[in-house]
Amino acid sequence: MIPIDLSGKVALITGVGDNESFAWFIAKTLQAAGARLIFAVHPRMIRIVEGFLTGDAPHDLEGRKLPSGGMLQVDKLLPCDVGFDTLADVPEATRSDRRYKRVEEQHGDYSIEGLMKSVKESHGGIDVLIHSVAFAPEIKSKLVDTTRAGYWTAISISAYSLIGLVRAGLPLMENRPNGASVVGLTYLGGDRVVPHYGGGMSTAKAALEIDAKQLAHNVGGKNIRVNLISAGPYASRAAKGIGDIQQMIDYAAERSPLPRGITPEEVANTTAFLCSPLASGITGHVLYVDCGYNVMGV
Ligand SMILES: NC(=O)c1ccc[n+]([C@@H]2O[C@H](COP(=O)([O-])OP(=O)(O)OC[C@H]3O[C@@H](n4cnc5c(N)ncnc54)[C@H](O)[C@@H]3O)[C@@H](O)[C@H]2O)c1
Repeated sequence: MIPIDLSGKVALITGVGDNESFAWFIAKTLQAAGARLIFAVHPRMIRIVEGFLTGDAPHDLEGRKLPSGGMLQVDKLLPCDVGFDTLADVPEATRSDRRYKRVEEQHGDYSIEGLMKSVKESHGGIDVLIHSVAFAPEIKSKLVDTTRAGYWTAISISAYSLIGLVRAGLPLMENRPNGASVVGLTYLGGDRVVPHYGGGMSTAKAALEIDAKQLAHNVGGKNIRVNLISAGPYASRAAKGIGDIQQMIDYAAERSPLPRGITPEEVANTTAFLCSPLASGITGHVLYVDCGYNVMGV
């Protein structure tokens, strides 16, 4: 047997919003392989995620079970709005928003810079960085109807954030034993036309895919690998916001070579593989975890 052993590795995970997020399943699988976890969650979600990590309702307990047995344990829960590289970038209206203000008082700097500072202080370095964040305020608008502001927000939060995180995280990730691994989540809608994947989200995913390849080249010399998983449709909180997610799941399931929908565990297992020494020669790659749907012509 070839085990995936991430013992002692530090994984910084963005994009946990609840216990159905891809990032939640990824966290559980990385921990089952031995990794220590830091969650960087949207400042507005921090209390909610805290609830999922500490709640003792049956649903909460069930959600924290690791595939290897044992329960999910997070070293640190930090707020981070990946739309801001530094606190100076935060507009006054956001900074004085009730929830942002409370988070700043309790946790301090919630920008990417603040996040990396906290991680450096508590853990010293990062072996695994998970980018599982996306947001387009106008996702329900066709691209032709998308405003300039909505389009830029989609790109900023869903694509540029990978650049910001890798740049700020570089001093913590360079020259780690066996190298460091960055894994992000993308979708076929960045490569082909998926109706209703609007608001500039398709553009953001297209940008994310070429950015991951550029970044792989930029940081490869520091022994940092950058890969993306293109996941099939899955009914997470964000995906439910698209509106017709169940229809997309059913459609893909009917037509895929493996005639079913994907599971978040399959995305998590592939992430663990990409973060492991088994994938030491893989970087700048977009790996489809979609039951093969992407190969179909009709
Ligand atoms: N669900 C699908 O069908 C599907 C398919 C392919 C790819 N993906 C991608 O997977 C990733 C995770 O999505 P998910 O489906 O798990 O949904 P999700 O809603 O659970 O995760 C999205 C996360 O992004 C976070 N986020 C949004 N704006 C943020 C900001 N400014 N700062 C920090 N965090 C912010 C949200 O808080 C949330 O936790 C996304 O990149 C998504 O595009 C999803």
